[in-house]
Amino acid sequence: MSRAKGFISFEGVEGAGKSTQVKLLADFLRSAGHDVIETVEPGGTKIGGEIRKLLLEPRNQMDPLAELLLYYASRAQHVREVIYPAILGKKIVITDRFIDSTVAYQGHARGLDLQIIETLNEIVAPDIKPFLTILLDMDVEEGLRRNRQARKEDRFEMEAVEFHNRVRSGFLQIAREEPERVKVVDASRNTDEVTRVIIDIIKETLGETQ
Ligand code: TMP
Repeated sequence: MSRAKGFISFEGVEGAGKSTQVKLLADFLRSAGHDVIETVEPGGTKIGGEIRKLLLEPRNQMDPLAELLLYYASRAQHVREVIYPAILGKKIVITDRFIDSTVAYQGHARGLDLQIIETLNEIVAPDIKPFLTILLDMDVEEGLRRNRQARKEDRFEMEAVEFHNRVRSGFLQIAREEPERVKVVDASRNTDEVTRVIIDIIKETLGETQ
């Protein structure tokens, strides 16, 4: 899988502030003259939006394999309809979650075979990997509290703290394995401080944005 230079992903545990930071980074890059697309998984397309509703509805009792395949159905549509065309058009794509979320949630936390996930990546998203991944890391209980205050309660927020701790350690393991791609940012600090750290990483990585 090759790393596309204009492709950036944000990852992290619940309540780490990904969607806020995606917006702030997109604004920064646009003000530096870049053409930027903000997108999200699951979702990013009309079909993906429908799949997202199925995946996050707290009343749905879902088989783990069905869950995994729905994430990949959403991703297949997203990669072909949004990500590939944008990268070919020399745009910068910033996605709120991508394949590392599947490795952390369905692999490390649900316990599905990582080899199956690797095979699905090769089928669904061949030749594409983010050039840079910002991993917003923080204590999972604090993140869940933040989401509860914001009245965000989906199927995953209802999982036990141990599930979320496995997600967190899954992400940190990916970061240890791929330190060049995955940059860990302490998301427990306030929004402005986190943004400043992210922009410094972007300047260092993309070079030309100052
Ligand atoms: P979010 O937009 O609030 O992050 O919600 C998406 C939820 O879906 C979040 O709980 C993480 C989960 N998820 C997976 O379990 N696997 C995946 O591959 C992706 C992209 C998300």
